[in-house]
Amino acid sequence: MDISHCFLVLLITTVLLIQDATNVDARYHHHLGKKQKNKNPPNPSPAYAPAPAPASPSPSIPSDPGYDPTPTRPDEPINNSNTSCIFYVTDFGAVGDGSTDDTAAFKSAWKAACQVENGVVLVPSNLVFMITSTIFSGPCQPGLVFQVDGVLMPPDGPDCWPKSDSSKQWLVFYQLDDMTFTGTGTIEGNGQKWWDLPCKPHRGPNGSTLPGPCDSPALIRFFMSSNLVVTGLRIQNSPQFHMKFDGCEGVLIDKLSISSPKLSPNTDGIHIENTKSVGIYNSVIGNGDDCISIGTGCSDVNIEAVTCGPSHGISIGSLGVHNSHACVSNITVRNAIIKDSDNGLRIKTWQGGTGSVSSISFENIQMENVRNCVIIDQYYCLTKACRNQTSAVYLTDVKYRNIKGTYDVRTPPIHFACSDTVACTNITMSEVELLPYEGVLVDDPFCWNAYGVQETLTIPPIDCLQDGLPETLGENSLYNC
Ligand SMILES: *[C@@H]1O[C@H](CO)[C@@H](O)[C@H](O)[C@H]1NC(C)=O
Ligand SMILES: *[C@@H]1O[C@H](CO)[C@@H](O)[C@H](O)[C@H]1NC(C)=O
Ligand SMILES: *[C@@H]1O[C@H](CO)[C@@H](O)[C@H](O)[C@H]1NC(C)=O
Ligand SMILES: *[C@@H]1O[C@H](CO)[C@@H](O)[C@H](O)[C@H]1NC(C)=O
Ligand SMILES: *[C@@H]1O[C@H](CO)[C@@H](O)[C@H](O)[C@H]1NC(C)=O
Ligand SMILES: *[C@@H]1O[C@H](CO)[C@@H](O)[C@H](O)[C@H]1NC(C)=O
Repeated sequence: MDISHCFLVLLITTVLLIQDATNVDARYHHHLGKKQKNKNPPNPSPAYAPAPAPASPSPSIPSDPGYDPTPTRPDEPINNSNTSCIFYVTDFGAVGDGSTDDTAAFKSAWKAACQVENGVVLVPSNLVFMITSTIFSGPCQPGLVFQVDGVLMPPDGPDCWPKSDSSKQWLVFYQLDDMTFTGTGTIEGNGQKWWDLPCKPHRGPNGSTLPGPCDSPALIRFFMSSNLVVTGLRIQNSPQFHMKFDGCEGVLIDKLSISSPKLSPNTDGIHIENTKSVGIYNSVIGNGDDCISIGTGCSDVNIEAVTCGPSHGISIGSLGVHNSHACVSNITVRNAIIKDSDNGLRIKTWQGGTGSVSSISFENIQMENVRNCVIIDQYYCLTKACRNQTSAVYLTDVKYRNIKGTYDVRTPPIHFACSDTVACTNITMSEVELLPYEGVLVDDPFCWNAYGVQETLTIPPIDCLQDGLPETLGENSLYNC
């Protein structure tokens, strides 16, 4: 890459930004006239190409990064021989001493990089940057990269959170297309003070839970965006969900390491909702809630070579809350390891919902000391006071193949609690063999109103899967998606 060209462009951009923000686009493009166009042709379906080498990142929590005041440069950007300009946040005034508020510098670097093709916002290594809740919005030129090689973190807890900022989210990427979030660095969530709020479960005086509001920020949120790649980063100690995708299409997640303590409340690893065409590969997730959770409006999701634990497992739902219509289809989870978790593979729906969950496949899953290894819960309820209702989200075409390992005997390893009124249909079980991690075999798996086949003998044996289809499936139109 031509460094001088890059610095020149940087200079021009900065000057133009200062001079006249509205005029930047046209003039900037003039300067870029001779610049080479895009790199490789866009991959038509990036979400479905698992990385060739499943070199999982280490699950260990990285040690304190240590602060080295010498700015390091140049950092290597991701190797993309046609990458154009690198916008170091430090060139825009970011200090990176772990306490200065660098938000304004990040916003300026983003603004500049957003305007060039293949622009890179670079957060250099060996520095610790603190920024407040920020929405990095597009549209931007294609190929934008946000590369964190150092440490990026939010203010330390609710008391330091600016009152005017949203306390529901921190880093937000909005309205972007063809964007990459990567780097060798760490997104440190500083979650401890949020987890300890007395409104969190059993964190009040004497183990009580004080009434809310109890909002805590999701660490990273992608909203209304498409063709996203998120790779390489360590993301840890989120106040709430680590990573959330909402209203997105075309998401490739590869080689992430996500970690928070086992007892950190509500710290889902990766949550997706209303999002289609998602690949999640080669990642290691340990936290205090769902490892991966899939909400309504998701389809065509492929999860491979993911290790979860400790966690609450991989979860579809909860769906159908407040009598809502929920649709989830075509979800595949393959070659996963789930260990020391409260659930393994879970589908949970509230009573009274409509819609369906269909074409779900769980294959080659290794369990280690997991409660509820395989669970369908259509009576999901947080209060125990949920009334029985006559509709439910319809579950069909769910396959469990080669699910092996050990369970925690405190709960049965297999639990199919399908709705009274809307049976689950076409559940296929093949090579499901689960043994106690320690203690005595549980020989009474729970199974209610479920139809399907066992292609091999399930261990522990279940005797309730019924052949064929139920006589009624309720009013079918309710379950259309
Ligand atoms: C840069 O991209 C162009 C076309 O987009 C291609 O012809 C060229 O070989 C690329 N350069 C390098 C060094 O990869
Ligand atoms: C970057 O890619 C180019 C072209 O593919 C290659 O020649 C070069 O060795 C790579 N550099 C690094 C540091 O991997
Ligand atoms: C906590 O429990 C102790 C002993 O039961 C009691 O004396 C104390 O008042 C309780 N504190 C609060 C804040 O409820
Ligand atoms: C299911 O999703 C996968 C991606 O995970 C996709 O390749 C496939 O075409 C989808 N199948 C259907 C029937 O849509
Ligand atoms: C709901 O239905 C279940 C199963 O039929 C039954 O055991 C339970 O008592 C019912 N609960 C209420 C509140 O009606
Ligand atoms: C049952 O589900 C499997 C996928 O698990 C699907 O291939 C098959 O077509 C379904 N059978 C029926 C009768 O719908």
